[in-house]
Amino acid sequence: MQKYKDIFEEIRRLRKERNAVILAHNYQRDEVQEIADHCGDSLALSQIAADSTAEVIVFAGVHFMAESAAILAPQKTVLLPNPDAGCPMADMITVAALREKKEELKGMPIVCYVNTSAEVKAESDICCTSANAVKVVESLPQDEVYMIPDMNLSRYVASKTKKKLSYWKGFCPTHQLLTADEVREFKSRYPGAPFVAHPECPPEVLALADAIRSTSGMYDYAKKSAARTILIGTEMGIMYRLGKENPGKEFVLVSRSLICPNMKITTIEDVRDSLRDMKNVIKVEEPVFSKARLALERMLAVPRD
Ligand code: 13P
Ligand code: SF4
Repeated sequence: MQKYKDIFEEIRRLRKERNAVILAHNYQRDEVQEIADHCGDSLALSQIAADSTAEVIVFAGVHFMAESAAILAPQKTVLLPNPDAGCPMADMITVAALREKKEELKGMPIVCYVNTSAEVKAESDICCTSANAVKVVESLPQDEVYMIPDMNLSRYVASKTKKKLSYWKGFCPTHQLLTADEVREFKSRYPGAPFVAHPECPPEVLALADAIRSTSGMYDYAKKSAARTILIGTEMGIMYRLGKENPGKEFVLVSRSLICPNMKITTIEDVRDSLRDMKNVIKVEEPVFSKARLALERMLAVPRD
């Protein structure tokens, strides 16, 4: 991290001047995670954004995350350091297509993974993240639920609840590439090492997992596990702090294809420039704002444990 010394100092100075907080998703580049005030999964970062007393939130993540922060913290200025950081899964459902689907569903509640646009959230009853999806579905009074847009997360939730679930057929192009053969190969190379997977992985991969967790859930698992070697099935950005925070333990990524280009697009220079120039402000206007906020607030009101 020595080579980033000067830019880190510049960012610290700007952060103080602007009364800003820097949030980074667990998949961000190592140096971006290093300068962040908080790293976390989608749920933790949206809660931090909602509770923050800072005037400016620099959200090093992808567009839907900054948008959720802007909805939960409307009195703050939310910056997305690189405006091209999107999420292809979020783009797999449009508000027009969802409205058409809702006609068929005749009032069935829509549980919306946060990896969606604000417009899609606004058409949904409640949001969820990978950390709370089962609890959110269980919290609903209805026995039948429709989940959008991730088919893998939806199928995972279906395996954990008695409710009848149907779902949109979207997916994460990064996690979808992970194969059961790759996992089996690593399991045979590291006999006895537990395999921890993100619920966005395909079902045949999840069937091989010893634990299925959100990205922050994986940090908890790593800390608590007695295993010396842990196999990891999620985007490679998670590896930096896993290694740093768990000296003496070994973490092995089970595929080279686990890279999300959108999570890697934000550079440390982008973080500096957005703070310096106060650019790439994310704002959500009415009527979408209030409806999407309701779906996010309902999610945050679901007890965690
Ligand atoms: P988490 O909420 O588990 O960090 O996941 C976000 C994401 O985009 C996974 O691909
Ligand atoms: Fe979207 Fe997948 Fe990238 Fe997460 S890892 S931001 S779901 S494309």
